[in-house]
Amino acid sequence: MPDPSPHECAELAELALSAARLGASLAAELRSRPLEVSTKSTATDLVTNADRAVEEVVVAHILAARPNDGIVAEEGSGNGLDAPVVWVIDPIDGTTNYVYDFPGWATSVGVRTIEGTLLAGAVVDPRHGDEFVAARGRGAKRNGTPLALEPPPPLQEALVATGFGYDAERRAHQAGVFRQVLPQIRDTRRMGAASVDLCSVAVGRVDAYYELGLAEWDLAAGTLIAQESGARVEELDGGPPRAGGRVVAAHPDLWPALVDLLRRCGL
Ligand code: IPD
Repeated sequence: MPDPSPHECAELAELALSAARLGASLAAELRSRPLEVSTKSTATDLVTNADRAVEEVVVAHILAARPNDGIVAEEGSGNGLDAPVVWVIDPIDGTTNYVYDFPGWATSVGVRTIEGTLLAGAVVDPRHGDEFVAARGRGAKRNGTPLALEPPPPLQEALVATGFGYDAERRAHQAGVFRQVLPQIRDTRRMGAASVDLCSVAVGRVDAYYELGLAEWDLAAGTLIAQESGARVEELDGGPPRAGGRVVAAHPDLWPALVDLLRRCGL
């Protein structure tokens, strides 16, 4: 099957945005009631009843409109993985922020082909009042306004976001890289939601972002939003970001110097 046209991607983006809005508003509503919190991969990896409830409504909303598409989602929904179009969903990206009621969690809905080409994506971050959406070849928008990345500062004046995984050994490695990076840039921000970090690159709220070991649902929507705003978002060694890899996002003029620094620091 040929890849969807830009017009079809725009339709997918509309559906991604309506699904992400629905998810984020349910999450916001559930946050005002007592949460059931438990753990997943490690004692620091949290999941709540809201993550599961949001995933259920987001998946149902998408499948009501496109019953033959595939689904990959953080809390375990998965079907139709051999379908030509697959939806990649993080119902609440930044669950730790959500549990602590710290602003900066989002519902993230990406769409890709079975081969992995990103087609559309939406990230809704209600505590910051931000709705991001992108369609392949059609650009990215924040709250309806088209995004276009400004030229970046030199690396030593760049504000560089990053994040840390849940596994203690991985965190220790990430901290070692970070200790070496920090003296060579302006400063850092650790938002706690990878999708929001990627959207922050898209709007110039940070100059760059890198992280090791993300899952596909952390990456999908935010990657396309940042790319469609003009950012280069790739693996450290080139090629499309992949689950478990080392993603680097920045203006194309800043990307090579940042990658060089991250390599020297052992990312
Ligand atoms: C996490 C967030 C965090 C990143 C972690 C992710 P979750 O996703 O995106 O910023 O540093 O690597 O796992 O668990 O909150 O959906």
